[in-house]
Amino acid sequence: MSLLIWRKTMKHILSMSQLSNEEVYSLMDSAIDFKAGKESDIGLDKFAINMFFENSTRTKTSFQVAEMKLGMKEVMFDASTSSVTKGESLYDTVKTVESIGASVAVIRHPEDKYYEKLINDNMKIHIINGGDGTGQHPSQSLLDLMTIYEHFGHFEGLKVGIVGDLSHSRVAHSNAEILTRLGADVSFGGLDSWYTEEFKEIGPHMSVDELCQEMDIVMLLRVQHERLSSEENKNFSKEDYFNKYGLDMRRVNMMKSDAMIMHPAPINRGVEIADDVVECNKSYIFQQMQNGVFVRMAMIEAVLEGDNIDNKINKERQAAIR
Ligand code: CP
Repeated sequence: MSLLIWRKTMKHILSMSQLSNEEVYSLMDSAIDFKAGKESDIGLDKFAINMFFENSTRTKTSFQVAEMKLGMKEVMFDASTSSVTKGESLYDTVKTVESIGASVAVIRHPEDKYYEKLINDNMKIHIINGGDGTGQHPSQSLLDLMTIYEHFGHFEGLKVGIVGDLSHSRVAHSNAEILTRLGADVSFGGLDSWYTEEFKEIGPHMSVDELCQEMDIVMLLRVQHERLSSEENKNFSKEDYFNKYGLDMRRVNMMKSDAMIMHPAPINRGVEIADDVVECNKSYIFQQMQNGVFVRMAMIEAVLEGDNIDNKINKERQAAIR
């Protein structure tokens, strides 16, 4: 019964704060099963559309692979040649792709909480948030959690240091909240100006040397030049940043023997991470990307399974009436 309630509520996946701890663990379990070889054709005869209004390599391609592995077909969508350029709203665009038969829309959009405009009782298509502005990035959070869980087997008491462009990062916003909720102690590093009130409420700000000595996980973030003001970009020095906050082998050698280095990527080599750290034995960066496919399979399966349960209930009701 509880499974039924859980599946029925997974109509859309929009933010980590929407998901209960049980739902997070359930999605992770499912992703781990997919990685171990579980197969599903839940998407057979269904269409997915990946609507990316911001650039992406990892999120878009791994959703595409996940959709194909579940038997779905992708309807191509290119924001730059779509009728959005003629002024069509996001709502009307999503209703259009729903009308032509898409079952799942993965959307990345520069506007924070763009999805609030889309969700109403008429919206039948499942929306999965592929990242909203500086808001949330639930599929990235889930793949990060899966990668941590594979390594440590738990979250309770883990010390996690998130270093970098906190205020502009949807990964920082999603991960700080969910890691704390799952029992980890989260600390922060990077420019003081990025350590805003919401992060102060979660954990302390420390130097990168201190974080490297004390943390179980050092999670690096990219400096998002595209979201900095022209003044901030003008005053930014890659060399200064790397010296103060970058992860080089000197700092890696301060880390605990089983500590993890994580980064959602894309990475800026020589800014937040040194070349030789990217593939060192403490780095899980490419494992994160690999896990992204399985987590995204679990997310798509979760929203489509709701349809199957609804269809089953409807058929049972119709049979009972007859
Ligand atoms: N980590 C991440 O979201 O990467 P992309 O922007 O390439 O999707």
